[in-house]
Amino acid sequence: MNSENMLVFGAGYIGRKIAEYLKCPLMRVKIHTYQDIEEQIEYIREKGYSDIKIIINAIGYVGENSVDDCEQNQAETYFANVVVPMLLADYCLKHNLYFVHIGSGCMYHYDYETDTPVSEEREPNFFDLAYVRSKIAIEKILLNRIMTNTQRILICRIRIPLDDQPNPRNLLDKLLRYDLIIDANNSITYLPEFLKILKILIAKEVRGIINLVNTGGLYYPDLLIYYNYLAEKNGFSKHNFDVIDYNKLGVPRTNLLMSVEKLTSIGIVPRDINKDYKQCVNNYIQNLIKRRDAEC
Ligand SMILES: NC(=O)c1ccc[n+]([C@@H]2O[C@H](COP(=O)([O-])OP(=O)(O)OC[C@H]3O[C@@H](n4cnc5c(N)ncnc54)[C@H](OP(=O)(O)O)[C@@H]3O)[C@@H](O)[C@H]2O)c1
Repeated sequence: MNSENMLVFGAGYIGRKIAEYLKCPLMRVKIHTYQDIEEQIEYIREKGYSDIKIIINAIGYVGENSVDDCEQNQAETYFANVVVPMLLADYCLKHNLYFVHIGSGCMYHYDYETDTPVSEEREPNFFDLAYVRSKIAIEKILLNRIMTNTQRILICRIRIPLDDQPNPRNLLDKLLRYDLIIDANNSITYLPEFLKILKILIAKEVRGIINLVNTGGLYYPDLLIYYNYLAEKNGFSKHNFDVIDYNKLGVPRTNLLMSVEKLTSIGIVPRDINKDYKQCVNNYIQNLIKRRDAEC
């Protein structure tokens, strides 16, 4: 595996991070048909990437503001989240390429009293949002292909990206926009850890579904309490918030813990988010300081 033989489709938040980390080309053109994929890959081959072996799909529609937008844009949701990944998987099957799909772990109702962390084998059961239904649909289709065509496909289920770089899609930025913060422990995907693990999974050519989250659950108020401590110390205003029972939020959302046993069983132990979140906030504040200094 080297950066010359990988391609990332989907120039959004996750796709850009992956392409930058793996130092491979990022395809930005809109895909409407199978022919669009053929043309894009032909184009990139002509640019000197003549030996593509791996396609990573980070194309998706997650809603402009939140997944609630997918309810009004269901055609767009299903096209980007189901049809386009199917076309890419078709291309990979035809050309015998390894296909890596960025999936989601937000597919379960979860009872914190009785459930154990969700394994990859558990049947998804959260159908309350079009976004989630589309992610469940494509996962089932790809899984079927893995089993029946023995196609080389990896589905990385990520969940609630957290990063040390400010970005409207980063969990920390999102929490800083909310006045009410839920009280549930949640599995999250810390992006620096995600990128490292993704690279290893690709190098090992792992197939099937993988929960690509950190070990442990993050209690969001802890993240904000530490943010406030560092923010005030560095001359930024603190964020005032109230903690609310997650059952009382009033919008359909998943809150859950995911198992990392499958990752561990293949020799990859994701770092515990409770050991890393302070460093994440530290780096985040340093990035805010750099931005502030650049503006002066
Ligand atoms: N962010 C999260 O919280 C999260 C959590 C779990 C899983 N995921 C999954 O991760 C994947 C990437 O999400 P993201 O957060 O990076 O979303 P994003 O920032 O919105 O990126 C998605 C990208 O896909 C592109 N796209 C949509 N339809 C396309 C098409 N037909 N052809 C080519 N490009 C197309 C979008 O381009 P335009 O903007 O130009 O339309 C956008 O650049 C999605 O599958 C999502 O379900 C995300």
